[in-house]
Amino acid sequence: MKRVDDFRLRLGKKELVPVMTGGMGVDISTAELSLVAARLGGIGHISDAMVPTVSDRRFKTGFVKEKQKKYKYNVANRDKSVVQFDLVRLAEATKLHVGRTMEAKKGDGLIFINTMEKLTMGSPRDTLRVRLSAAMDGGIDGITLSAGLHLGSLALIEDHPRFRDVKFGIIVSSLRALTLFLRKSARLNRLPDYIIVEGPLAGGHLGFGMDWVQYDLKTIVDEIHRYLTQENLNIPLIPAGGIFTGTDAVEFLEAGAAAVQVATRFTVTRECGLPDKVKQEYFRANEEDIEVNLISPTGYPMRMLKNSPAIGAGIRPNCEAYGYLLDGTGNCAYIEAYNRELDKHPDEENISVMDKTCLCTHMRNFDCWTCGHYTYRLKDTSRRLPDGSYQLLNAEHVFKDYLYSTEHKIALPAE
Ligand SMILES: Cc1cc2nc3c(=O)[nH]c(=O)nc-3n(C[C@H](O)[C@H](O)[C@H](O)COP(=O)(O)O)c2cc1C
Repeated sequence: MKRVDDFRLRLGKKELVPVMTGGMGVDISTAELSLVAARLGGIGHISDAMVPTVSDRRFKTGFVKEKQKKYKYNVANRDKSVVQFDLVRLAEATKLHVGRTMEAKKGDGLIFINTMEKLTMGSPRDTLRVRLSAAMDGGIDGITLSAGLHLGSLALIEDHPRFRDVKFGIIVSSLRALTLFLRKSARLNRLPDYIIVEGPLAGGHLGFGMDWVQYDLKTIVDEIHRYLTQENLNIPLIPAGGIFTGTDAVEFLEAGAAAVQVATRFTVTRECGLPDKVKQEYFRANEEDIEVNLISPTGYPMRMLKNSPAIGAGIRPNCEAYGYLLDGTGNCAYIEAYNRELDKHPDEENISVMDKTCLCTHMRNFDCWTCGHYTYRLKDTSRRLPDGSYQLLNAEHVFKDYLYSTEHKIALPAE
């Protein structure tokens, strides 16, 4: 009976353990978590979501304060179009986050960064160019393009000296999205080095509509696999979304996948950035406590725990400090929803906004508890302690469980 460790992922000249920990935005997939995956010979993702904020927390820098101070005069203004990121500072924050992570890397694995196109930051092209270039300057091993079609992303950085050396991959949820991207990247003679196929059971934003339940990861992977074979394209395929046991992973590897990307099982590890109290919420969750909703201002459906404090909260938009989801004209769907409620209830001190959420603020404060579909199985991966809480896991334990488990068994942590 095969185990994940019987397989290897080939990326260029490198041979890797075929497990990738997925990017989990705003420092849920911390540097510490990615470093464990790399130390054990796999690939660990950090995320480039809200890096100035993450850097402030990690290195006591003052990027957010500086921006907030600059735009303080605009806080009560409904029009946020003046709010812009200082591109020099953005590059500094990204280089710091990436550079320090890379300096700490040990072992044969790699560290990649997950870069979301939907983080439009008031100036989509300029900020994306800076984030991608600064990550390469910081020494990142690879960049995973996510949350968007990324049709113009590679062209933004084609002149960077590391353009052909850094590994590039894209996350897609359909063959159609992949073919659009491949057409663009063929024009630059820079095909992706790997393709992550994310199915409907993943955490974070979904690349499906609210009809996500009708889709199935295996079917999409098979379709993309057939397409690549037919086109003679030898690009490693990496399924993600609901791969909960080593055996789930082996089934994909035996069917031709090159590796798997996993995330949910790591949300309850010590190295994960969520506060311990929130990790207990993930452990306790039952299937009916998880929903896919449309409150993200990005417009993509997002899966989360129903008791996330972000749902229904009516805080004032915090774009002067954050503003990561402002589009090129300074708009965000939350601002519109908030202003609508404010106009309806002008005398109320605390308003509630049900249809959208201030995702920047709530992700920053770990109040939007986004999670994978199988979060309700996390309780079976640990031990219940006498006080009713669950024992946190080590990332190494979870990683190795993926590598060595058979027959869908899940190893419990040592007591
Ligand atoms: C808490 C959480 C946050 C996530 N945040 C992001 C993100 O910021 N960007 C992204 O591309 N994917 C994100 N994902 C998706 C994961 O990277 C991964 O592809 C997916 O969750 C894998 O499925 P699994 O969680 O069932 O293992 C997130 C997943 C989780 C659980």
